[in-house]
Amino acid sequence: YTIAADKVKAHIQPTMYGIFFEDINLAADGGVYAELVKNRSFEFNMPLMGWKEQKKDGGDGRTEVINRAVERPENAHFIKSYITSDAGFYGFSNEGFRGGMGVKEGEEYSFSVIAKQEGDTNVKLNIELHGDNDAIIGNAELTPTDKEWNRYSVKFKSSATTPKAQLYVWMSGKGVIDLDMISLFPEHTWKNRPGGLRADLVQKLADIKPGFLRFPGGCIVEGRELNNRYQWKKTIGAVDKRENIINRWNTEFKHRPAPDYYQTFGLGFMEYFMTAEDIGASPLPILNCGMACEFNTAELVPLDKLDPYVQDALDLIEFANGDASTKWGKLRTDLGHPAPFNLKMIGVGNEQWGQQYVDRWKIFTKAIKTKYPNIKIVSALGPSPEGKEFDLLNTTFRSLGADILDEHYYAPPKWFRDNARRYDNYDRKGPKIFAGEYAAQSVATVSPQNKNNWECALSEAAFMTGLERNADVVNMASYAPLFAHVEGWQWTPNLIWFDNLKSYATPNYYVQQLFSLNKGTDVVPLTLNNEAVAGQNDSYATASLDKNTNELVIKFVNTSTSAQNVSFKITGSKGYQKQATVTTLKADSKDAENSLAAPTAVSPVESTVDISGNTLKLAIEPYSFKIVRLKNK
Ligand code: AHR
Repeated sequence: YTIAADKVKAHIQPTMYGIFFEDINLAADGGVYAELVKNRSFEFNMPLMGWKEQKKDGGDGRTEVINRAVERPENAHFIKSYITSDAGFYGFSNEGFRGGMGVKEGEEYSFSVIAKQEGDTNVKLNIELHGDNDAIIGNAELTPTDKEWNRYSVKFKSSATTPKAQLYVWMSGKGVIDLDMISLFPEHTWKNRPGGLRADLVQKLADIKPGFLRFPGGCIVEGRELNNRYQWKKTIGAVDKRENIINRWNTEFKHRPAPDYYQTFGLGFMEYFMTAEDIGASPLPILNCGMACEFNTAELVPLDKLDPYVQDALDLIEFANGDASTKWGKLRTDLGHPAPFNLKMIGVGNEQWGQQYVDRWKIFTKAIKTKYPNIKIVSALGPSPEGKEFDLLNTTFRSLGADILDEHYYAPPKWFRDNARRYDNYDRKGPKIFAGEYAAQSVATVSPQNKNNWECALSEAAFMTGLERNADVVNMASYAPLFAHVEGWQWTPNLIWFDNLKSYATPNYYVQQLFSLNKGTDVVPLTLNNEAVAGQNDSYATASLDKNTNELVIKFVNTSTSAQNVSFKITGSKGYQKQATVTTLKADSKDAENSLAAPTAVSPVESTVDISGNTLKLAIEPYSFKIVRLKNK
């Protein structure tokens, strides 16, 4: 193999490897959003879903679910409990997500409620956390004092670790009390923000050092029907004013229905922007373009009624970038973030297709470009990289001078290996490419049997050498979906799996991470007999310079079952320090996977190799992905 270290072919964008976030598989509620209470504001279709009435020590009472939709359409329900006994306790338990709440011994939890005493009553609240075998593992007391709605909170520690704790809210003292937004959060969250995100999960995102964060999806942007589309303006500000809606994945896939899957939007647009900022990723919001999910109802907003949708996009740009003299910039400032979020791109529609999409896209694009000519627009090319829908959009958007085209591919591992040259002949002067959703499917596309196995991960690595080699065209790429709860998923494979307490990174995650941490700044040619390495000897390779660290970075993927002894002749360099660092990701079997029990079975291993002159010799194991970093002298 030959590497011409002085012949820069393409600049690698800082955005190159990023993250695709969607609230699917309990990614947000029940996942990264650390709220432990399910249906905290009684807004599910069955308002007491997740809650169970409880009585003890002779306590008694009854509860009404009150609908105040006229005054509070965004948070219509609360409960009114009548405590009818002098003695004992009456109340409710909450089952959390997937049958429990993950709590840890010694950690502090914050219980809060919005409450109102009625008349002269003085109902007292006793909060209990029940662990395994119903043992009480944490408790606290709280007496709401006001006759007007007010928020009350109290902290307590858990004395045990369990993934399936239950929260009990007991009421005592005869009287009537109104309750809403009954909430329990760990004190320890990402950056210890109150009401924040699960630290272990966000840390895994930060560890990728992603170039961008795409949010909030995925199909939830569209909604199964337009009423349940994602509307960013309803996801900011006080959490009790964020209107809950059913999650689009609630009933998807008959094999894993999730009737209790809703969106509380506790993870809303402000949190997405702030998370992107925290982890150094460029924000990439995707907005509904007046189309519901085309896999479902395919409802459309008439073209002459599109204004509010377009306005949402314009207002979002102002919210992200405007200063306090603008309406939406002021709101961001008032929400505690005076500095702009530096939004540079926005997606119009998720995975739309057809002429109906083009018609709406044109209206959005004209409005956005007129007001914000520097904002780049991400345009979808439908659900598949092949077929007539893709061709129509590809041709149309290219002729209309689109900025960035979003290609999606969920396909067998072989497709990924076979497509390592996909971008070699793309028009260098046309739109940039965002490989916005992809994942190798071990069994069949969208099969519930799909695994995050090593063959899939290695094939993705092979494909990604092709993305990187074509970094002058491909500016962004993200695996999808990102998160999945091991007991609550609708889609597989996924990048990161978790339960109520723990999480693990898949082999696919490590591939993404290694590409991102080692992307370098500029592609240089790595060839075999003057050809890019994309399948010869079942090998795939790319090389880049890292001008920030003054290194040459080689990525080599061996998808064959045989070891290979390879040698790289490097030209155009003044020489390298004797020892180079090597990172190897490999597994003995193509079926190898990680799991909660063995989270790092397939994970990177570091070593070193000596270089002689400008020649690097490397022993490459079967079925492995290697990265070598050579430091210039
Ligand atoms: O990633 C899962 C789904 O796949 C996304 O919601 C959608 O955009 C695509 O069809």
